[in-house]
Amino acid sequence: MGDHDTGMTLTDACEGRPRRVLYGRRLGPRLKPNRRRLLEESLPEVRLTLPARGERLEVASLLRPGTDRLWLEIGFGGGEHLAFQAAAHPGVTHVGVEPYLNGVASLLGEIEARHLTNVRVLVDDARLLLEALPDGALERIAVLFPDPWPKLRHRKRRIVNRATVAAFTRLLVPGGELRLASDDPGYLAWMLDATLAEPRLVWLAERARDWRQRADDWPETRYEAKAKAAGRQPAFLRFRRV
Ligand SMILES: C[S@@+](CC[C@H](N)C(=O)[O-])C[C@H]1O[C@@H](n2cnc3c(N)ncnc32)[C@H](O)[C@@H]1O
Repeated sequence: MGDHDTGMTLTDACEGRPRRVLYGRRLGPRLKPNRRRLLEESLPEVRLTLPARGERLEVASLLRPGTDRLWLEIGFGGGEHLAFQAAAHPGVTHVGVEPYLNGVASLLGEIEARHLTNVRVLVDDARLLLEALPDGALERIAVLFPDPWPKLRHRKRRIVNRATVAAFTRLLVPGGELRLASDDPGYLAWMLDATLAEPRLVWLAERARDWRQRADDWPETRYEAKAKAAGRQPAFLRFRRV
């Protein structure tokens, strides 16, 4: 898939590296026994595996029984937003991507506690999934408080950029929704630059409170709570795919 500006693939767009291009943590503090159990026993039941590079996944192969459409959350952290959405929308398969194992274990705990049967998880770099999904595969995409990478030389690491926004647009069905959030003013401006350059996305904000306040069906994430406790003002962006 080429970026419409540069002709680069998504993974090329991240400092020219092939295949896996993860930044940040994959392993954190030692996993507690219950988290280890969840990763060993529950992860295989929900784990999504990528096809060989260059091949596409079929939407039908991703759908859990009783569901007929897909939503995607990239970098779900502790999984609280994803679990909330999965419980609120049982007719949707919720695909979560998160390389950080402690976060994955936390989501698996939520899946177990809430008896959720409509979640799939990829433990890897979300860009690999973006490449593997067919056009119009997703009804909703959420990227909430992605790592801001504020240093100039690290900006290419940002998961929201023109190449990924082009991919989000390709993947959303007409009428589908992209939700982004950030507490970093520099990243916020960067996100708006990337999304407003995409003519097939319409920003849904009509007044300031539309981006200063979360929609009612959008619960607070752990990172948002930390940002607010530190005195940072989050912004919440919603776009419709036309
Ligand atoms: C600042 S945290 C925010 C977590 C969560 N969305 C929240 O709001 O609490 C960013 C998350 O993105 C994940 N992440 C970083 N690079 C990623 C990538 N390439 N693909 C998927 N997730 C990624 C990190 O592991 C981390 O959990």
